Amino acid sequence: MKILITGSNGLLGQKIVKLCLKRGDDFLATSAGDNRNIDCPNEFYQTMDITNQENIHAVFNSFKPTHIIHTAALTNVDYCELNPEECHKVNVSATQLLWDEAQKINAHFQLLSTDFIFDGLIGNYKETDIPSAVSIYGQSKVDAENILLNSENDNWSIARTIIVYGTANNLSRTNIVLWSIDALTNGSPMKIINDQFRMPTWAEDLAWGCLEICKRNKKGIFHLCGPELMAVNEIVFRIAKYLGKSTDNVEIISSATLSQPAKRPPRTGFDLSKSRIELDYNPKTLEQTIEILLTEI
Ligand SMILES: NC(=O)c1ccc[n+]([C@@H]2O[C@H](COP(=O)([O-])OP(=O)(O)OC[C@H]3O[C@@H](n4cnc5c(N)ncnc54)[C@H](OP(=O)(O)O)[C@@H]3O)[C@@H](O)[C@H]2O)c1
Repeated sequence: MKILITGSNGLLGQKIVKLCLKRGDDFLATSAGDNRNIDCPNEFYQTMDITNQENIHAVFNSFKPTHIIHTAALTNVDYCELNPEECHKVNVSATQLLWDEAQKINAHFQLLSTDFIFDGLIGNYKETDIPSAVSIYGQSKVDAENILLNSENDNWSIARTIIVYGTANNLSRTNIVLWSIDALTNGSPMKIINDQFRMPTWAEDLAWGCLEICKRNKKGIFHLCGPELMAVNEIVFRIAKYLGKSTDNVEIISSATLSQPAKRPPRTGFDLSKSRIELDYNPKTLEQTIEILLTEI
């Protein structure tokens, strides 16, 4: 296996790199900017703009991957809502460019997608459920998925996930678990919603699942998230309990009071049966991962 990773400066990208280094897999890490992952040696890194076809073509043809894991995306949901053209260019058009180039070299192409492709009215979504996005970001991922779903070539997979958390180097944004550990430890005030339900995903479990799809040469859609559905405020309360910290500074609010540009699906969560059976995917609970995170922070 020769694995090319897009978005290797991002949270998931860094975890895939970490696992490849640990296992001795042959890989090339790529991202838009310079290599910001201090754990990724520069000889395994190349800058690649996924919106530039010539750039993709040159990198693919020099490395000749057998598998591409496409994690790069515009992931800020509100930014996407306010910048729909840029969102479409990075999340949809670039996916088409990458898929076109992947097919030229007969490489397996894996797209990272999201629970935000669903409207969140039902929850516990299966791989076969019909998407119905409520945001520009969610729709961009539906459109990217459709490029693969409508292709005659089936040498692809889609890994859908939900609120990813974990530690990494020089990230452009934090994540709910790191933020909570920091704020609860320092007693900083937090406002947190109680009317959105998610299955938070430890980035290392997700990275394992993405690589396992490649290793087992699986095709089609896979749901990869954490094992437990909880309201967003419950994430914070469980972390506080685990750390033995007070929640006196945590204020519970409703989503409506946030006035965010993009709508969010109220209740997502995935049915993990397919991934458990076909990949032996067995993600850790929130408490199991906090124990590990505390040793990394
Ligand atoms: N994080 C979540 O909670 C979550 C939930 C559901 C689904 N997902 C999906 O999972 C995937 C990984 O998420 P993540 O949290 O690891 O993302 P992330 O930390 O936001 O990283 C995304 C990476 O994409 C890269 N990128 C953006 N534009 C690019 C371009 N034009 N060319 C090349 N690279 C570009 C950025 O590279 P530079 O840093 O080099 O600029 C960035 O490091 C995404 O596809 C996301 O939609 C994430």
